[in-house]
Amino acid sequence: MYSIIVHGGVGRIPPEKEEATIAGVRSAVLAGQSVLKGGGSSMDAVELAISVMEDDPTFNAGTGSVLTFDGEVEMDAAMAHGPTLSFGAVTGIRNIRHPIALARMVMEKTDHVLLQGAGAQEFARMMGIPAHNPVTEERRMQWRDYRERFLRGDAGDWPKLRALMREHPEFLHGTVGAVAIDEQGEVVAGTSTGGVFLKLLGRVGDTPLPGAGTYATGFGGASSTGIGEGMMRTLITKTACDFMRLGLDAQGAASGAVSMVDNTIGTQAGIIVVDCRGSVGFANNTGRLAHAYVTSEMDEPRVGI
Ligand code: GLY
Repeated sequence: MYSIIVHGGVGRIPPEKEEATIAGVRSAVLAGQSVLKGGGSSMDAVELAISVMEDDPTFNAGTGSVLTFDGEVEMDAAMAHGPTLSFGAVTGIRNIRHPIALARMVMEKTDHVLLQGAGAQEFARMMGIPAHNPVTEERRMQWRDYRERFLRGDAGDWPKLRALMREHPEFLHGTVGAVAIDEQGEVVAGTSTGGVFLKLLGRVGDTPLPGAGTYATGFGGASSTGIGEGMMRTLITKTACDFMRLGLDAQGAASGAVSMVDNTIGTQAGIIVVDCRGSVGFANNTGRLAHAYVTSEMDEPRVGI
């Protein structure tokens, strides 16, 4: 028995990007499934599924990440292994192709949980990871446009980040994530992102923080997407895992965790979940969550946006 679910971000998807988004999450889940089907681990499946989306400029992760206010790409990624509560993450990483692979190396090759900025960069160099420029021309053009509008005052003030995102949902692009359970019953969750457009240099989002953007326990795992500041304040993935510990299945935990966000601070949120019995769940409060999932009981993945 195995299951895997992936997401490609929450919020508005421009009509011209719908086809590429559907194709992207489908390719990612099929890549993850190929690992699980062959008896591979959920760790390998999650890493591969996320790597596929990091290579796809449709998504805001790896190549195609959004730019900071200063025009840089600073990426965050994390991986969580449920049975051991192990967690590895990087934040503010630049110029590499697969931040999710580096996050996994933090978990497997160091005694730490989270490496940031220059230290994460040095660790990547030590691990022999080659430099890669993740900035695409499309993102550079969007950055110029958004920055200009922001400086003209169209987009509100920085302290009003929530209002800014509500007014301009196009600022929020697709973080990516995957959660899987393998034949051994091990649940792993992973998430990777460029963050949010026009973020200040050094801003850390929810993705690399345990219990915020990414979490897994012996009861299940979860990866979230949305405005990171909201996920950090509500610990949405830890909440979903707690719901599973109390007996809810993956869908109940996903719906309950998003309701909790709605009933408290109401920021944009989406989540994917797998429980230790292999069922999958997903929920969001924006009406749109690019996702795909497949289990050993299914002939074909289900895909939705
Ligand atoms: N959820 C991605 C971020 O806010 O960084």
